[in-house]
Amino acid sequence: MPILGFMALSTQSVGLICQAFRWVCRCCRGYGQGDTEVLRTPEAAFQGLEDYPFAPHYFDHNGMRLHYVDEGPEGAADVVVLIHGMPAYSFCYRKLIPVLVAEGHRVLALDFLGCGKSDKPADESVFTFDRHVSSIAALVAHVEITTPKVTLVIHDWGSMIGQAALPTLDGTLKRLVILNAFAGPGLFNYLGWMLFKVWQGLVRVLGHAIPVGPLNAADAGGPSKVSYGAEVAYDAPYPNGKYKGIMAVWPLLYNNKSGVLKQYRDALEWSKANLTVHILVAFGDEDLILNLDYAFPIFKQVYARAQSFERVAIPCAGHFPMEENCPAVESALIDFMRKT
Ligand SMILES: *[C@@H]1O[C@H](CO)[C@@H](O)[C@H](O)[C@H]1NC(C)=O
Ligand SMILES: *[C@@H]1O[C@H](CO)[C@@H](O)[C@H](O)[C@H]1NC(C)=O
Repeated sequence: MPILGFMALSTQSVGLICQAFRWVCRCCRGYGQGDTEVLRTPEAAFQGLEDYPFAPHYFDHNGMRLHYVDEGPEGAADVVVLIHGMPAYSFCYRKLIPVLVAEGHRVLALDFLGCGKSDKPADESVFTFDRHVSSIAALVAHVEITTPKVTLVIHDWGSMIGQAALPTLDGTLKRLVILNAFAGPGLFNYLGWMLFKVWQGLVRVLGHAIPVGPLNAADAGGPSKVSYGAEVAYDAPYPNGKYKGIMAVWPLLYNNKSGVLKQYRDALEWSKANLTVHILVAFGDEDLILNLDYAFPIFKQVYARAQSFERVAIPCAGHFPMEENCPAVESALIDFMRKT
C-alpha cells in the first residue's frame, strides 16, 4: 500500500508539471477553451468495424449531436439502455446487443458527448458531468418512453453518471443493472483510490495523446481477451489527438471542487429515499479497482428500497465483463430480466 501511495503522489506531481506543458502545447495546436469548433468523426472511420453493424441514430442534446444504437422492436415491452464508461463507446456492448434483441427487447446504446459517433467539441469546458448526466434522460425522452420500461445498464465511469441520472429517470425506470462500478459516496476502496490517483496522473500526463485503443484493450484483460480488431474499433472515433478532448478531461472532473461529487451524492440520497426498482449487481470478479465484495454492501445500503437485489460474480473477467466473458453477462442479465 505505501508503495502505491508513493506512486500515486509522484504521478500526481509529475502530472501537475506535465499539465503545465500540456496547456502550452494545447495552445500551440489550438486545442481547448475558447475553440468553438465541434469535430465530427467521418462515418468512414467506422466502416467495417468488427461486430459493429448497427445503423446509426442521432438526437440533439443542448446543441450537440449525440449518437445511439437503436435495435429491436419499437413497441417492445422492455427497453434496455446501455451506458458505457471511459475510454469506450457503444461498441463495448456489441456482443450483448443482438442477444438482448433476440430476447424480444429494444436496445439503446448511447455514445456520450466526445465519444463514439457523437460530436466532439474542441472546447473542453463543454464536457461537464451534468451534460453527460442529462443526456441519458434526454435519450429516453427522445425515443418517447414515458412508462417504466427501461432497464438501465451502467459500467465504469458511466456508472457514476448513470447513478447520478437516476432521479431524472423517475417514472421510466424498471430495473438497474450495475456492471463493474463506483459504489457509494466513497466511490472505491483504498486500493481503488490509489490506482485512481495514478490514473488521473496518467491522464494529466498524456492528455490528448492518450492511446484509447490500447488502453481499452489493457482495461479488458489484454490481447488474450480482446482482439486486435476490437482495439482498432476503440480507436476509430479519434482520427487524431484533437478529437480526444473528452479523454483528456473526463477522469479529472471527479473532484469536490467541480461540484461533481456533490451532484452524485445528492442523487444517491434521492435514490436511498425514492428508488424502488429491481437491481442486479454483476461484476467481473478479477477487477482490482472496482471490487464486488467492497461494492455490494454499499449498494445495498444506498439502494435500500430496491424491490429486489441480486449479486452475480462474473468469472474469468475483470473490469470489462462484457468484453471478457460476455456469455456470463448475457445469462445473468437475461435471467434477471425474465424473473423481474
Ligand atoms: C470530498 O469531500 C468529502 C466531504 O465532503 C470528503 O469525504 C471526500 O474525501 C472528498 N473527496 C475528494 C475527492 O476530495
Ligand atoms: C424523494 O422524492 C420526493 C418526490 O419527488 C422528493 O420531494 C424528495 O426530495 C426525494 N427525497 C430525497 C432524499 O431526495
